[in-house]
Amino acid sequence: MHVSIILPTYNEKENIQIITTEIFRVFKKNKIKGEVIVVDDNSPDGTGAIAESLRKRYKNLLVFHRKKKAGLSSAVLTGIKISNSDIIGVMDADFSHPPPKIPSLLKKIKTCELVIGTRYAKGGKIKSWSMLRKIVSLAANLLAKPIVKTRDPTSGFFFFKKEIIQNKKLSPRGFKIGLEIMVKCEPKIVEVPYTFTSRRMGKSKFTFKEIFNFLLQLFSLYLFKIGF
Ligand code: GDD
Ligand code: MN
Repeated sequence: MHVSIILPTYNEKENIQIITTEIFRVFKKNKIKGEVIVVDDNSPDGTGAIAESLRKRYKNLLVFHRKKKAGLSSAVLTGIKISNSDIIGVMDADFSHPPPKIPSLLKKIKTCELVIGTRYAKGGKIKSWSMLRKIVSLAANLLAKPIVKTRDPTSGFFFFKKEIIQNKKLSPRGFKIGLEIMVKCEPKIVEVPYTFTSRRMGKSKFTFKEIFNFLLQLFSLYLFKIGF
């Protein structure tokens, strides 16, 4: 089994080196064959150049530079296009999604088509998020639940078989490409609980604009569900 892990980055200079190193350490320790694909949107803080310099050390590190900030979901779609594996993983670069969990999520992909890291199940939790962010997340999940059968429809930590998105029209709007895939590809899903930890370094890119994007995405997914 070969896996491509996509790391979208925008201004992650404090995180990029340690997250890449940690993922390759987990690969080695667990005998996982795979590549890491950084998709950087010309980060003003120089993340792209740091990622590029790491390629000397890691031959299975690919770095794709886009001209300007174009969103998390679209960065993931770009990463998929250049990936060399049948299994795709998606993670944040800020350690909110713990690399040591990679092997347990990957193991499950043999039995299904999409594995989600779930915060909202026994054994999963969220550490050090503000009350406001928790409420926004719960509300977002409540709104998404009628169209997808999972306990964490807005999770950004997931692995899937690339074949499930073949011939599907995925919209790159906003942050929630996982939800888009779950609704449009109807994969067989397995959930693995994990602890989401708020970032310690750098700034979140989540803004009210993303809430608006999410609501538009939901609207179009509801329409999709009823056949429009
Ligand atoms: N290339 C690129 N372009 N990367 C981006 C962009 C963009 O426009 N916007 C964000 N990213 C990257 C960040 O650098 C980070 O690696 C990752 O995407 C997630 O961004 P954060 O800013 O850390 O997001 P968050 O912690 O607020 O949101 C998370 O919460 C959700 C769970 O409710 C993300 O983890 C989501 O993936 C997750 O679904
Ligand atoms: Mn984050």
